[in-house]
Amino acid sequence: MGILFDEEKKIFKLDTEHTTYMAGLSDEGYVGHVYYGKRLKNIGGKYLLRMEETPFTPLVNKREKNSFLDCFPMEYPTGGIGDYRESCLNVRNSRGSMGCELLYEDHEIRKGKPALPGLPASFGGEDEVQTLKIICADGILGLTVTLFYSVFEKEDVITRSVSVENNGTESLSLEKVYSACLDMDNQEFEMLTLCGSWARERHIQRNKVHAGRQLVSSVKGESSHQEHPFMALVTPGTTQEAGEVYGMHFVYSGNFIAQTEVTQFDRVRMVLGIHQEDFCWRLAPGESFQAPEAVMIYSDCGLGKMSRSLHDFYREHLIRSPYKYKKRPVLINNWEATYFEFDTEKLLAIAGEARKNGIEMLVMDDGWFGKRNWDDSSLGDWTVNEEKLKGGLPNLVHKVRELGMEFGIWFEPEMISARSELYREHPDWAIQIEGREPGQSRAQYVLDLSRKEVRDYAYECVAGILRSAPISYVKWDMNRQLCDMGSACLPPEAQGELFHRYVLGLYEMQERLVTEFPEVLLENCSGGGARFDPGMLYYSPQIWCSDDTDAIERLRIQEGTELIYPLSAMGAHVSDCPNHIVGRTTPFETRGNIALSGTFGYELDITRIAEEDRKQIPGQIALYHKFSGLIQAGDYYRISSWTDQKPLDCWEVAAKDGSHALLTCVNVLGRPNVRSIIIKVKGLKPDSYYRLEGTEEIYTGEELMSCGFMVRDLNEDFKSRLYHFVCEENA
Ligand code: DGJ
Repeated sequence: MGILFDEEKKIFKLDTEHTTYMAGLSDEGYVGHVYYGKRLKNIGGKYLLRMEETPFTPLVNKREKNSFLDCFPMEYPTGGIGDYRESCLNVRNSRGSMGCELLYEDHEIRKGKPALPGLPASFGGEDEVQTLKIICADGILGLTVTLFYSVFEKEDVITRSVSVENNGTESLSLEKVYSACLDMDNQEFEMLTLCGSWARERHIQRNKVHAGRQLVSSVKGESSHQEHPFMALVTPGTTQEAGEVYGMHFVYSGNFIAQTEVTQFDRVRMVLGIHQEDFCWRLAPGESFQAPEAVMIYSDCGLGKMSRSLHDFYREHLIRSPYKYKKRPVLINNWEATYFEFDTEKLLAIAGEARKNGIEMLVMDDGWFGKRNWDDSSLGDWTVNEEKLKGGLPNLVHKVRELGMEFGIWFEPEMISARSELYREHPDWAIQIEGREPGQSRAQYVLDLSRKEVRDYAYECVAGILRSAPISYVKWDMNRQLCDMGSACLPPEAQGELFHRYVLGLYEMQERLVTEFPEVLLENCSGGGARFDPGMLYYSPQIWCSDDTDAIERLRIQEGTELIYPLSAMGAHVSDCPNHIVGRTTPFETRGNIALSGTFGYELDITRIAEEDRKQIPGQIALYHKFSGLIQAGDYYRISSWTDQKPLDCWEVAAKDGSHALLTCVNVLGRPNVRSIIIKVKGLKPDSYYRLEGTEEIYTGEELMSCGFMVRDLNEDFKSRLYHFVCEENA
């Protein structure tokens, strides 16, 4: 059993295969954080609660409450009672005062893991996960707060969430409900986050923490291009293979905050949850609020171990799609090929040529409905534009299928164009503040998904199209952030619920979609990669990584994404050159090699690209068929990054049984007078022999891992190479 409670010491011990987490009770009943780190054999370390530490005025009051609370390592700190660090829960009573004090009441340990109502959450069988519920209460407010901890032993992951229940007689306002907190001593930590912008999402950023609060967040209504709902604290000098890493990742797709605070006593408090800006949830007597899930991970073997554990965890315990380990069809998407200028004939020409080259699915992107010839109209009017698609959608789908291909389609169901029939009929369906002109972005407004009739309309538009023809894939896009937060239907005191209700509405729609169309492959997307988050992974096994398809830009974007997400989740396509975003020209081979690490597909006009590029497509697709299983299920190793001034950008995927491994090396810029470069291969069986495929070169696993593999003649700008090592027993 991964969870124990020591009655005498009043300590909970949660064990995964390599880690231990401990929480303990103070004499008063505060739930404090004792330890998180390397696995311990025995329960101990209660002194880490520091209950005997001298307060500020020792002679006056040995245990003055607020000086105690301001340094006690809390499992779930509350606001208003004297802990001046960042709180996780702020509750205002009906007389307008904010204050809440949680004391332990009871606990429960059980096998398995409960689902979170209305929210995406990890899951697992009774033999895979155990859950601890610590029930706390504030007797004055009549509030019960349950802290959930679920222990996934094999993946070294502990998930946390919180539910808040009003068992009192007065209405309460929840002004902040975070999902997790970690109070620890500062070990000279550095903070690692993923940041960027549109077309350069999730670049790795690492800085030393300093006194005060440092955070990443989104108040855009989605997880965002700019910052990511993930934070890790790492000890100085942490590499891929060494150093300690404490990570937190949020299973949520809306506003968030991930923050580290270095306190006056050189301790850190790391918190994660829904951002409190414009958040206020009414809780009437008898009601409860469920906070989303936080994923916590600890590694004492560097970042690589964290990546592999999270990859396994998301593959096994968050992604539900039947496509999880199924080979995804190689698709061609017409966005960069045609933008809005296409018709049946053009799409069939692309499909015909694509089919000849081995591509398996045509995806029709934006522009097929209403009067949408540009991005300034028709969102919400989901009727097929028969001027473009002569003979209608079923006709096109059948013709594509006759070619032997599957068909996929693009939607942006959450939006309403200012120029649309829908807006003329239902202007109040757009999120807006009464009396204030709502801001447009890409000439569109956001539908108020807190309203059931709006969700039903938007869902039925999507479902109606999917019911009308055999469609195998949906790209669910979202191309603007939220603002002017007002709902025509919520009462004034509930307007602060709109951001979260919007996300719940989105989840409800996607749940309906995957329930009614379980065989449809769903890919989430938001103007590229603004909604690449674990919440979305619960519904779609893949997410479009970025609108930037330039091979070199993709190196940083994919490196940051792979740090915490399985490769099988990364939407990655080969596009044409000069690249539409950065104007760069890279070899077609390199574009293919880099997209191969993701879901793989094409985003170009195959009828017009250079013949020497087109000729490479069948070979690239053969590589995809050969390696997709390995890439979906294997162990990922980041070997070097050109952002660290290393000559090669290099990563590897090794089969879990060590039977083979694929090494990808990209030379970004050629350098004068470069000799061969040694790459230490990972994840092989030391005593086995490996052949470098396509050559007579044989190495032992030990040789490749310890002496390294010698990369030669890879010094041209943007040149890349794949190396496949196959264990001779498996050859
Ligand atoms: C943004 C997406 O990321 C693109 O791939 C494309 O689908 C456009 N939206 C269409 O408007």
